[in-house]
Amino acid sequence: MNNFLSVKDVLDVEELVQLATRLKTNPHEFEQLGRRKMIGLIFFNPSLRTRMSMLRAASLIGLDTMVLNISDDGWKIETRDGVVMDGDTAEHIDDAIPVMSSYCDLLAFRLFPTLTDRVLDYEEKLLLKIEALSKVPVINMESATVHPLQSLADLVTIREYSKLQKPKIVLSWAPHPRKLPQAVANSFMEWTLKAGMDITVVQPKGFELHQQYTKGAEIMYDQKKAFEGADFIYVKNWSSYSDYGKTSQDKEWMITLEKLKETNNAKLMHCLPVRRNVVISDQALDSPHSIVTDQASNRVCSAQAVLTKLLQENGSL
Ligand code: CP
Repeated sequence: MNNFLSVKDVLDVEELVQLATRLKTNPHEFEQLGRRKMIGLIFFNPSLRTRMSMLRAASLIGLDTMVLNISDDGWKIETRDGVVMDGDTAEHIDDAIPVMSSYCDLLAFRLFPTLTDRVLDYEEKLLLKIEALSKVPVINMESATVHPLQSLADLVTIREYSKLQKPKIVLSWAPHPRKLPQAVANSFMEWTLKAGMDITVVQPKGFELHQQYTKGAEIMYDQKKAFEGADFIYVKNWSSYSDYGKTSQDKEWMITLEKLKETNNAKLMHCLPVRRNVVISDQALDSPHSIVTDQASNRVCSAQAVLTKLLQENGSL
């Protein structure tokens, strides 16, 4: 694995899930692997779980860390090509990335989408530009279209909670007051499908994900019907792909305890942060159905597996 930008960089998803599971049991197995090496964590957008789990994972393998919150601490970065930089941007990405990669052995980036320019977002132009400019492996900590570190933790969690080879998994859209990326949902679909799982996605009309992520999945519009017999309900809001960035607060789609009672005693998953009583009710989140905290905890062993693999397979670092 040369980079970790999406599931496409992972040859064997199950092997990576198994490595993460193994590291959860034995977190100090590779405690010397990152010794005298440095990772830079570069945030263009806020984060709690990704930031803290990456810091913890790095520390468990002896890897030093630098964190840069670009919007708070760095020069304002210009990402467009060929512009006359006489406005408020002080440094071009073409200059910043080679410098960052000269200080670090690995670089990780969080880069949210515009949610106004679909072509720009779905081309992942910025992430690919960073990859091309970097002299060291690049890790995606959530980009415009995918969030692979989250999806790996999601698979680890599903494997932990179900011994079934093909549990019934339902990804359900839920309401939200703000427009959110499709990245977590896109990525969850990609990873579960690549792992050979049966997955259903249910959403209101107009909120279908791009078909490149849902090919092979069952697509439904009736949440009640979709939940019947489900072993896992993965809840997430995403804004519209077709009417790009449009959102909806349709309360009928909020996840409640009553809805979970109609499943096969399903486990309730969400990547967090979650808006209580908008996306999921208090009663559902605080019920035994919910595994959201365990899911978030699995971000550590998952990040550790990715860092371990990148360090092991890029021996000249
Ligand atoms: N799920 C997730 O990535 O959380 P953060 O945005 O807090 O990192």
